[in-house]
Amino acid sequence: MAITLLYQPLPFFSRSVEKPNPNLRFPAALKFGGGGSAVTACSSVSISDPEPRYASVKSFAPATVANLGPGFDFLGCAVDGIGDFVTARVDPGVRPGKVSIAEISGAGGKLSKDPLWNCAGIAAIAALQMLGVRSVGLSLSLEKGLPLGSGLGSSAASAAAAAVAVNELFGARLSASDLVLAALESESKVSGYHADNVAPSIMGGFVLIRSYNPLDLIRLKFPQDKNLFFVLVNPEFEAPTKKMRAVLPAEITMADHIWNSSQAGALVASVLQGDLPGLGKALSSDKIVEPRRSPLIPGMEAVKKAAIDGGAYGCTISGAGPTAVAVTDDEERGKVIGERMVEAFLREGGLKATAMVRKLDRVGARPIFSAPR
Ligand code: HSE
Repeated sequence: MAITLLYQPLPFFSRSVEKPNPNLRFPAALKFGGGGSAVTACSSVSISDPEPRYASVKSFAPATVANLGPGFDFLGCAVDGIGDFVTARVDPGVRPGKVSIAEISGAGGKLSKDPLWNCAGIAAIAALQMLGVRSVGLSLSLEKGLPLGSGLGSSAASAAAAAVAVNELFGARLSASDLVLAALESESKVSGYHADNVAPSIMGGFVLIRSYNPLDLIRLKFPQDKNLFFVLVNPEFEAPTKKMRAVLPAEITMADHIWNSSQAGALVASVLQGDLPGLGKALSSDKIVEPRRSPLIPGMEAVKKAAIDGGAYGCTISGAGPTAVAVTDDEERGKVIGERMVEAFLREGGLKATAMVRKLDRVGARPIFSAPR
């Protein structure tokens, strides 16, 4: 018989590399809301040792844009068509209750195959523990579609895809909120305790993290009938999230707090109203984080100017960078804006860059193939 418990700290994760605020870890309960009306949903742990429903499951998790200007660590959205894939297989060669990483492709040999030090591995272990799986071992294959350290939520996409694949393998017993918690275990170890990539990667669309303790997520519905295109320009430059977090100020002025709070409020209103000019204006407005990070990314200031001059409604750093993100309501205009941003990266920063124009991913991480047992 299944017994439901409130989510408890997972003993395995006690040796996190980063030392986050202990008050921000392991929320006892989680709220999950939509369209501004949050619904409380306690995160649950099953200790029933479930049987796998499939022999293997392959999942996809999309790239994400975190912060969106003034929403540092509390706002993010998913973008379509790019992301990571994880296949989770029942593997009799792996010790019951454990995870092994069989294969990693697309990362140029830069990622560890030790599951305790790999984003997909950490999230898969967390999901297995939440499901209460003790009799089955799993092996994972990770296909990286996202460049590492790019500001597109690369680590989050691997974690999200792994959590979703493991959950599906055992009959999709975990809620979306549980999956965010599982992926957050990984994120806290490799980049920092922030859910603004993992939450939208799992849930799709725009997500607001209202609080971390307890974790309280609000899905912000962008109107279906409005066009929104993200111009994502990724230079050949690595900006590790940990490094980019280390440059942030410990204290800010009241004036900056008031400014950024009002801009973040305007950003949320613009998302809900589908107001692209308003969204772009708010996106460009961060006075706290972007000014510290922008000088560390060669050419970023000129790239932002090129985007705005090219007709974008707004532009900022995507996540911790170095990718620049601009928004527009016209796909063809987005391509032109992208070309101008690429030119600016080369001219002012000496960096080669590639541009793509993407829509909002409204679905989030999902299983895409399952093999019967
Ligand atoms: N909010 C995080 C940061 C996102 O900016 O550090 C990292 O992708």
